[in-house]
Amino acid sequence: MTRPVGAWRLQLRAGDAVELPEFLRIARAIAEDARSGRLAPGARLPGSRELADTLGVHRNTVLAAYRELSVEGFLETARGRGTFIASALPEVKAKRWLPASSQRPTRARLAARPGFDFPSTPAAIPFSPLPPRTLALYGGLPDTRLLPHDALARAYRRALRGRVDLLGYGDPQGELRLREALAQMLRVTRGLSVRADDLLITRGSQMALALLGRVLIRPGDRVAVEAYGYQPAWRALSEQQGVQRVPIAVDAEGLVVSELAAAHAERPVRAVYVTPHHQYPTTVTMSAARRMELLALARRERFAVIEDDYDHEFHYDGRPVLPLASADDGGNVAYVGTLSKSVAPGLRVGYLVAPEPVRKAALAARFDLDRQGDRVSEHALAELIEDGELQRHLWRTRRVYHARRDHFVRALREQLGHQLTFETPQGGMALWVRAARSLPIGAWHAEAARRGVLFQPGQLFRYDGRETQYARLGYAALDEGEQSTAIARLGEAAAALAGR
Ligand SMILES: Cc1ncc(COP(=O)(O)O)c(C=O)c1O
Repeated sequence: MTRPVGAWRLQLRAGDAVELPEFLRIARAIAEDARSGRLAPGARLPGSRELADTLGVHRNTVLAAYRELSVEGFLETARGRGTFIASALPEVKAKRWLPASSQRPTRARLAARPGFDFPSTPAAIPFSPLPPRTLALYGGLPDTRLLPHDALARAYRRALRGRVDLLGYGDPQGELRLREALAQMLRVTRGLSVRADDLLITRGSQMALALLGRVLIRPGDRVAVEAYGYQPAWRALSEQQGVQRVPIAVDAEGLVVSELAAAHAERPVRAVYVTPHHQYPTTVTMSAARRMELLALARRERFAVIEDDYDHEFHYDGRPVLPLASADDGGNVAYVGTLSKSVAPGLRVGYLVAPEPVRKAALAARFDLDRQGDRVSEHALAELIEDGELQRHLWRTRRVYHARRDHFVRALREQLGHQLTFETPQGGMALWVRAARSLPIGAWHAEAARRGVLFQPGQLFRYDGRETQYARLGYAALDEGEQSTAIARLGEAAAALAGR
């Protein structure tokens, strides 16, 4: 089987795949020679030292190339006898060798079902990392710098160290320990009469919404949504084919329930998605009258109310407002919560409380999609709740965000009060502001971005996608100093527009 390699000389073409590390370039050249037949199956390769000398590279580079080729199945080594081209060459997937920059898109043969378009504007679905020195006034982002990092790290360490079994399969409904801790928290702070078994832990509220979209909404159903609202929820709830979204106006009391009643009378809706605690994006707290009206309508007409209580912890003025779900005696409300605001969005922990048939179907759908959550995180979070660490954190962040709201409102009124009007929200993490005509939001947004300040124009939340003079300015994630800088830059951006 051994054939001398004879006059074979490895040629590395200059400029060829220079982005690749040296050892991969060598490996690729050898593989190409093997494929083209310049190196026959069974041919013996020079020793690593010899090839290294010929190529003027370090011997370890050649060894790495040989190792790579062995893993790929191009080479066989016989101890003490040398390295040989494999007698049966592997099927080569040429693309594996291409640097990312040279990959061309293949011609599309597969078509996806229509209806899945990921928004291309980063402001529509913000995520980090942001460009350096950028100040993001994105509504709803918590300040993760305030987290008790040591306690969090300790809880993770304990979850991992004591319990290797946590890396195995677990309960698709979520770890019992976390469900018990959350159920207790929901009973005490939100007036929900829930037990651990009533909860389904999800990866963020987004998954809970998507599960509801699958198990509650049927193809062709109508789903009512807030006409200024949260796009990711609209999308998740209308994944089924032919689902029609029905936008319902919101005003200073929240969702206009009479409009929902009228839409339902025209053609029944299957569900309505609402954010009653702090309406997203307008920040309005739904009035008591509207709450009663909505629950009564849902009970009478037997449609579902999907309540997204995403920032329940952050209410500063007046009495805490309990969720609709706490007053739901008709079994119509599916309640969705998250730890994305109270702890951190990157942990991806949310939950669903829903009447049993819906919750059980959601459990089955969750299993199909993702089997189970992250057990280690779930245990670590349970520990933080059990020993009161999370409650202390919430206490602290509530005070901090309250102070930040007041500072932001003051500074914004001082510097841009002549161009912006807004109500001070009772809670939450953002302001909803209206700009004067002299300050077109689109141009202001672009000018501010050039100065390193990002915010979300109201257009992003508008069902019909039309331009609007509103914007959402999140204040919670920036400390007072950062807020002042951001507002100064917003002022400069506005002044630059006025000077044009
Ligand atoms: C209205 C609304 N619902 C839910 C969420 C939280 O989503 P998740 O729990 O998937 O992080 C957010 C966060 O931005 C939100 O604004």
